[in-house]
Amino acid sequence: MNELELLITLHKNSDRLGPGSEADTLKALEFIPLPQDRKLKVADLGCGTGAQTITLARNLSGQITAVDLFPAFLDELTKKSKHLGLTNQINTLCTSMDELPFGNGEFDLIWSEGAIYNIGFESGIKHWKNFLKTGGYLALSEITWISPVRPKEIEDYWHQVYPEIATASDKIRILERNGFSPVAYFYLSPESWTNHYYKPLEKRFAAFLDQLAHSELAKKVVEDTKMEMEWYQKYKDHYSYGFYIAKKI
Ligand SMILES: C[S@@+](CC[C@H](N)C(=O)[O-])C[C@H]1O[C@@H](n2cnc3c(N)ncnc32)[C@H](O)[C@@H]1O
Repeated sequence: MNELELLITLHKNSDRLGPGSEADTLKALEFIPLPQDRKLKVADLGCGTGAQTITLARNLSGQITAVDLFPAFLDELTKKSKHLGLTNQINTLCTSMDELPFGNGEFDLIWSEGAIYNIGFESGIKHWKNFLKTGGYLALSEITWISPVRPKEIEDYWHQVYPEIATASDKIRILERNGFSPVAYFYLSPESWTNHYYKPLEKRFAAFLDQLAHSELAKKVVEDTKMEMEWYQKYKDHYSYGFYIAKKI
């Protein structure tokens, strides 16, 4: 297995593949006026194993197209939605979020938790906007500086990993110059990182290493993940995932 396949193996049994929680998804949803007289068309882009897809399906009336690049994650979501009797509301689509086969103005709501970074914030917004109706909503979470001044060490780290990291006001400006009116912003609490993402992930390290017979590459995947967790513990006052809710105007 290569490193990507190992990462998929490590994550595919996880409920969440990044920081977030059901409470965060519901909080973001509260800012969106949901029509009661018709069903919504929703896309969840970079859905992973679909924790937020399930929350959306349970809390709004409509059809959700859950998109991810990796079939292993979508298979997990399909298992969960069958188990929960939600297959009528959720359909999966295996494709890249920058090559979406949707029509112009097809969706009422585009959702994406911790995934737009794969194609970049601004380029994702520009591409996805086409598929939203005028007056439709975009709700997404994206890595964000939450302090005005940061130690150089963490700035350098993030500029290497994801140079588009910025403050919420910078991200909101990008939304505005691309035809969105900002509706709400909040950032995820440390519990959404640790209790809902890092702790469950950490619990799987031993079984993952056993499964991969402690290969050098499997050990590297675990060490890199531990390092990411240490960076977070050390610098959690400086960055988080910001949740942005905006309306297409
Ligand atoms: C950090 S995970 C977040 C997953 C999920 N939204 C969650 O919060 O649990 C990012 C997701 O983006 C998916 N992804 C990566 N590149 C992609 C692409 N080009 N198109 C669609 N999905 C992609 C990954 O497979 C992964 O499921």
